[in-house]
Amino acid sequence: MPSSHWWRTAAIYEIYVRSFADGNGDGDGDLIGLRERLPYLRDLGVDAIWLTPFFRSPMVDGGYDVADYRDVDPLFGTLADFDAMLAAAHALDIRVIVDIVPNHTSSQHAWFTEALASPPGSLARDRYIFRPSAEEPPNDWESIFGGRAWTRTPDGEWYLHLFDPGQPDLNWDNADVRAEFESVLRFWLDRGVDGFRIDVAHGMVKEAGLPSVGHPQQIGLLGREPLPYFDQDGVHEIYRAWRKILDSYPGDRMAVAEAWASTPLRLARYVAPDELHQAFNFDFLAAPWSAAELRATIDACIEAADSVGAPTTWVLSNHDKARHVTRFGSPLIARAAALLMLALPGAVYLYQGEELGLPEVLDLPDDARQDPVWHRSGGTDPGRDGCRVPLPWDASLPAYGFSSTGRSWLPQPDWSSLAASSQQGVPSSFLELYRSALRLRRTFTGPLTWHPSPTDVLDFQRASLRCVVNLSPATVPLPAGDVLLTSGDLPGGELPPNTAVWLG
Ligand code: NOJ
Repeated sequence: MPSSHWWRTAAIYEIYVRSFADGNGDGDGDLIGLRERLPYLRDLGVDAIWLTPFFRSPMVDGGYDVADYRDVDPLFGTLADFDAMLAAAHALDIRVIVDIVPNHTSSQHAWFTEALASPPGSLARDRYIFRPSAEEPPNDWESIFGGRAWTRTPDGEWYLHLFDPGQPDLNWDNADVRAEFESVLRFWLDRGVDGFRIDVAHGMVKEAGLPSVGHPQQIGLLGREPLPYFDQDGVHEIYRAWRKILDSYPGDRMAVAEAWASTPLRLARYVAPDELHQAFNFDFLAAPWSAAELRATIDACIEAADSVGAPTTWVLSNHDKARHVTRFGSPLIARAAALLMLALPGAVYLYQGEELGLPEVLDLPDDARQDPVWHRSGGTDPGRDGCRVPLPWDASLPAYGFSSTGRSWLPQPDWSSLAASSQQGVPSSFLELYRSALRLRRTFTGPLTWHPSPTDVLDFQRASLRCVVNLSPATVPLPAGDVLLTSGDLPGGELPPNTAVWLG
């Protein structure tokens, strides 16, 4: 496979559309607002954007409950707005990846409405996972959002939803389901999208007979132990069919899997040469700020991806996880972690606002929270709204310029000093660090080799680039070389704790 494929080394920026930029002043981000901000993304230096779902949806789960896969929800605009945004992105050399949600539909999807209106055993019900009426649910499966994964219909049958009851799981043994998603892929490929991010890519096929797991707290096993509803061998046949579709289009189209598997090698199966192009590397996101753990994770992930000839991906934050400034507990560490990630071989996924150093918003008022995780946990789990707060663009404007009317679907904290306008042109800012790093990163090539280093220091080389990260509590000497970029000050020419440097 030629190494020139754009996605092998791309910097891909995740846009949580509702929170990126509001073009019509209703307080919700939309496609017009996104189009207006594309020059910012060009100047940041990203190669592609991934848009979270903007399709017709009752928004029970932020749009991951799709009612019509071929239309734009009025909250976000129209298909014409999408086409205009796509053309504007392409004119700036920015590729566009859209989210596809194949594990479940919305309960307001025409298929589910038809299924509910049809008798048990009907063809309409066979597109979902219904089980006969009984007092108890068919098995012990738990919803990822809390509670049982089964809900009863008025006629007594149960239906499966691994997420919210508003997200019924599809039955991927049904031929209509397979044909429909192949058609949906073509619909967006025909419009010109460059790729897909596949939601719950490990979830579509369930173990035959739907056996119980045998114990509670199943979410804790995610990505660590086999579960009968995730990472079943049958999913790979689906991706082999999808790959043929992607390859039949010109322009190097790609797909990235949101897949959780119990080992790096099982995850690598999703990115075999005849399946998907990439899978998110959640092990890196989950790794603590520890040199030994990060190095082991980096090595294991590179080895697993190499075993199938795929590029590794790196991610520190996304719309489901607490922002890494807060996870690491310090902006200093977040800056060093960014330089570490951006020096690694492979593709990187950035989450909107990480280039501004935004923290997780921990004190949202209860009545503002919208995440089903918050509601289904009875308010014991704060959920994911804290990383989805609308972006601060301009410190001098209401809602920090997110919306012309000053409205914002989630309240923003005092972000005056973090707004893009406050950081623009300030050399020590997060924004300028990311801009410089993304520009320099383009010149780096080649595999990674480790230098011997003191305990708690990461030190590696990629061709002429050397990246050194000090995770120890003491200042360490700097190896020889020109300083290309640093995440913090280098007093006395040495590398202080929680600081990274790129040497050339
Ligand atoms: C993963 C998405 O990233 C998340 O936001 C969503 O809630 C679930 N899949 C269900 O679609």
